Amino acid sequence: KAGLLYFGAATDTPGFRERAPYPQSYAQYDAILEDPEEFGQTTPTNGQKWLFVEPQPGLFNFTEGDYVANLANRTEKILRCHALVWHSQLAPWVETTQWTPETLTEAIERHIREVAGYYKGRCYAWDVVNEALDEDGTYRKSVFYNVLGEEYLKLAFRVAAEVDPEAKLYYNDYGIERPASVKTAGAKRLVKMLQDAGVRIDGVGMQAHLHADNHPSEEDLIATSKGYAELGVEVAFTELDVRIKLPVDEQKLKWQSDCYEKVVGACVRVKACVGITVWDFYDPFSWVPDVFPGNGASLLWFENFEKHPAYDGMVRKFSEL
Ligand code: G3I
Repeated sequence: KAGLLYFGAATDTPGFRERAPYPQSYAQYDAILEDPEEFGQTTPTNGQKWLFVEPQPGLFNFTEGDYVANLANRTEKILRCHALVWHSQLAPWVETTQWTPETLTEAIERHIREVAGYYKGRCYAWDVVNEALDEDGTYRKSVFYNVLGEEYLKLAFRVAAEVDPEAKLYYNDYGIERPASVKTAGAKRLVKMLQDAGVRIDGVGMQAHLHADNHPSEEDLIATSKGYAELGVEVAFTELDVRIKLPVDEQKLKWQSDCYEKVVGACVRVKACVGITVWDFYDPFSWVPDVFPGNGASLLWFENFEKHPAYDGMVRKFSEL
């Protein structure tokens, strides 16, 4: 449909799926994950992050990332790669080293050369920089920003472009799904800043960690997507989930389904929207309850492996469009 290339689900390596509620859930989970009828794309939720791939300076370990990359290959799914430069889940040494602009530049460059170099040719897209903005649309005061200012963004995209010329290079963030938000304006400024510097950026990833009871309208999602597309980049919904304030009831599941359906509607209606990724698909493996206690049931399969109404809602929506 239109520019849509995939509907996918992120996943973790088995070692990270600590909350499997009963032993058989692994087998049931894997059967869904590997079913080509369900998902045509995947992203490692954790395995390619700095903490795991470069735990010590210059010491690289691709075990966790490879699990998902190999699964994508084996099950013929498109692979989105996530994330080269992010302030969170950083290896502790990155935060404790006393950097100069020169030494941090070298460390970022080495990281991207090794990691993007290792996965070269396998990633449809890379989230080159993740979550560089604060809620007010100004730059987040990460270690990268504090030492290098916005130069670190140019550096990251420039090196990634050189190392993996085929991969689409994305800026990825949350809270940039609504057209009038200051953070959305910040994301657009960031794209323009890179373009003005002559640096390649191909896409904006709207993470879309949304709320069932207060979600953007389809028109808003379309307007935001078009706003990015007007800058000449593609867009994707990269980490979609729709949290519910527990307990779950029919009304909230209906709101949740409406929200998932609006994302599908928006992505199909905007040519520049290439795909939708849900941030895992099985409720017990979602990050939401850990970070927002009292919230959950944000994905497409309940703990007992029954499907949420949003699953059929999206299928219906796809078939109508
Ligand atoms: O690896 C350790 C393990 O050794 C230890 O036993 C265990 C104890 O709790 O923790 C494990 O680390 C956890 C890690 O996931 C791997 O499972 C961390 O505690 C946990 O905080 C971490 O959460 C991840 C979170 O990013 C960290 O910020 C989530 O799984 C992951 O879904 C989430 O993903 C992010 C995106 O990358 C960026 N956008 C927001 C999104 C949601 O926070």
